[in-house]
Amino acid sequence: MPPITCVEDLRQLYKRRVPKMFYDYAESGSYTETTFHRNEDDFKQIKIRQRVGVDISNVDTSATLAGKAASLPVAFAPVGMLGIQNAGGEIKVAKAARDFGVPFILSTMSICSIEQVAEATGAPFWFQLYVVKDRDYIRNLIHRAKAAGCSQLVVTMDLSMLGQRHRDVKNQLSIRPNLKNLINIATKPAWALDMVRTPYKTFGNVIGHAKGVDDLSSLLVWAAEMVDPALDWDDIAWIRKEWGGPIILKGIMDVDDARIAAQMGIETIVVSNHGGRQLDGAASSISMLPEIADAVGDQMELMLDSGVRTGMDIFRARALGASGVLLGRAMVYALGAMGQPGIAKLLDILQKEMKTTMGLAGKTETASIGPEDVWR
Ligand code: GLV
Repeated sequence: MPPITCVEDLRQLYKRRVPKMFYDYAESGSYTETTFHRNEDDFKQIKIRQRVGVDISNVDTSATLAGKAASLPVAFAPVGMLGIQNAGGEIKVAKAARDFGVPFILSTMSICSIEQVAEATGAPFWFQLYVVKDRDYIRNLIHRAKAAGCSQLVVTMDLSMLGQRHRDVKNQLSIRPNLKNLINIATKPAWALDMVRTPYKTFGNVIGHAKGVDDLSSLLVWAAEMVDPALDWDDIAWIRKEWGGPIILKGIMDVDDARIAAQMGIETIVVSNHGGRQLDGAASSISMLPEIADAVGDQMELMLDSGVRTGMDIFRARALGASGVLLGRAMVYALGAMGQPGIAKLLDILQKEMKTTMGLAGKTETASIGPEDVWR
């Protein structure tokens, strides 16, 4: 096998190793997938300024994200079902993140539970909250995250209704595979064997915690009905009070919404269109970042996700006003391809790309990367 040198190599290996329905779940956007593709395309349009004559013998990729030192301006995005892409996936990513020194965000819809990840890693991580109708469940989840020592609560705001991904419907995506999916699974024996052996098989944050959910079939019914279309800014204020710590709002794509968040005193927002999985037709996240940074960048911290595939993209996001980026698909590729070593490999690839980009752009510290470093 030729050496893995970039994120695209990890994607190809991931595609070979994981059942098609789970690959398709990750590698798709909603409806026409216009926004899904636009996210990556718009990154490529941003030209980086090449500068010379600067001493670049020491280039430092470290940064501060939501008040914490990180060795690279990236965090792992909250992605559901990581533990299905690779057995015990959430714990593997959390451990690799801890060892490298970047934040890991655990999804509400994870396989490994908050407590299992906390026990396995012994390091604080961030927790992502889906706002569901059952307020008792949310309250309990927030308190579980607090008890486990989670340092940031990341509230997803752009999933009050689900954007349809055609492939999931066609594949009849479920953790109870149908015959066609079973036949495909038979072609991935290493994956299947790991799944049989792992103790992590259900949605650890939900089963046994949400009312009336005690097995997989009741979970699927609950999940279909769980998203709360009534989520509004009052709910955010309530969640903030329950949590009592710093909060990150994910899914802000508009200056007016960013201003509301700033007025509420929210510490951090993630400029995100959910990887093109929700509002198809929306602008790319990176194209909205400069405007949002102009409006509220002096009042709150901005992070960004959707479309980041390279260290050059991390540099571009940083130049346009983000403290750092969240990695969703790139993380899934790496995990599905090679498990925990895959995540370490991904971080190594991105750090080298970022370092070279910084050096050739004449920057030795992330703090000095700014709008002057790119042509828009
Ligand atoms: C859920 O957050 C999804 O994007 O599938």
